[in-house]
Amino acid sequence: MSTGPAVRRLSDWDAERLRGLAAAYETPLYVIDVERVRENSRRLQDAFSEEEISYAVKANTTRPVLETVRDTGVGAECASAGELQRALDAGFDPEAVRYTAVNPPDRDLDHVVEVADEHDVVVTIDSADTLERVADRGFDGRLCIRVLPGVGAGHHEKVSTGAAPKFGVPYDRVADLAADAVEREMELVGLHAHAGSGISGDDLDAHRELVSRMGDLARDVIADVTALEFVNVGGGLGVPYREEEPPLDLDAVAEATRTALGELDATLGIEPGRYFVADAGVLLATVNTVKETAETTVVGVDAGMTTLIRPAMYDSYHELRSLAPDAADRDVVSVMVAGPICETADVLGRDRSLPAPERNDVLAVGNAGAYGYEMSSQYNSRPRPAVVAIDGQEATLAVRRERLADVTTLEEQWSE
Ligand code: LLP
Repeated sequence: MSTGPAVRRLSDWDAERLRGLAAAYETPLYVIDVERVRENSRRLQDAFSEEEISYAVKANTTRPVLETVRDTGVGAECASAGELQRALDAGFDPEAVRYTAVNPPDRDLDHVVEVADEHDVVVTIDSADTLERVADRGFDGRLCIRVLPGVGAGHHEKVSTGAAPKFGVPYDRVADLAADAVEREMELVGLHAHAGSGISGDDLDAHRELVSRMGDLARDVIADVTALEFVNVGGGLGVPYREEEPPLDLDAVAEATRTALGELDATLGIEPGRYFVADAGVLLATVNTVKETAETTVVGVDAGMTTLIRPAMYDSYHELRSLAPDAADRDVVSVMVAGPICETADVLGRDRSLPAPERNDVLAVGNAGAYGYEMSSQYNSRPRPAVVAIDGQEATLAVRRERLADVTTLEEQWSE
């Protein structure tokens, strides 16, 4: 079974195939290649061969992705009642499904506790309050405590969670909470922490520090209270978004993680999201307008921050490529690629060198498989895009394009 190359660049995608998909399904269009999802899962399983891997479904919850990941034999990590429902609907083995609470609303907990009791799903709580709230609902199943480890990492401060007070139980309060859980006759099976998202080689020290703190906590503190089944050190494995960036050395990360954890009679767990799907997806957009200005050439496309919010939200870089059949014959110019939303932030790329774009060209946006469709919105009353899944030569519509009518479909009658 192929594990594929460590990284798949935008230039590796077949331009003619992508142009065909844009013509058949129209744009903006997310394309997700499930064979690449399989390869990514295999590479993770090769490197973390002794560990327990869960897919953080928030990165991409479309059905082809969930079912593909499920078939590769890993579990699912879910951050809401909706994600939990999706993972179970997609057929993940409930025993390999984890729910991680983040200040959970009552409505979520009602659903989660019911489902967890029925299917033996592990519930990870993030505060003493959440423990009390699940206990009030009669939960006496498998429990995990999310620890605030005090070490954060990631591609942007907005996604560095490990030192943000919002997430998890402060390190020095975990022992008391663990004792409380055991007293309430819950089965405390795990500890959990997550440093942040988009960890690169530069963040490895922070990652090691977090893992080592978790090892200490499990050995020195929790061992007195109960025997743990697992210690999960979160997700966050980064992927290269720029051509020149090297991919993470997964074997080295796995080795560093094991060493940092130290001797422990519990399974080490990880829960990456982005790594499974980022380079398995591209976003296709069509050029609507080309405008010369004093500063730059503005290329207006039909995908914007409502389609892919990462550039506007985190200043994220996504590679751009012209799929025009004659792209190689055109002069290369410096452009700004902007979307159709009325915000200055609605720019997919600045100062990009592209073969002089023309109206109706199709552009591809790289690494769009993670947190792309998932974070799309209807702002400016823009219908969300379609998603098509490809597997070898097959192409299947996974999510249909929203129509104008979908934008108002939930509204109640307000006046006669
Ligand atoms: N586990 C927990 C508890 C998490 O909060 C997250 C991500 C993950 C696992 C998966 O992290 P990953 O392996 O995908 O980095 N929207 C942002 C990323 C936010 C991630 C939030 N939590 C982005 O587009 O970069």
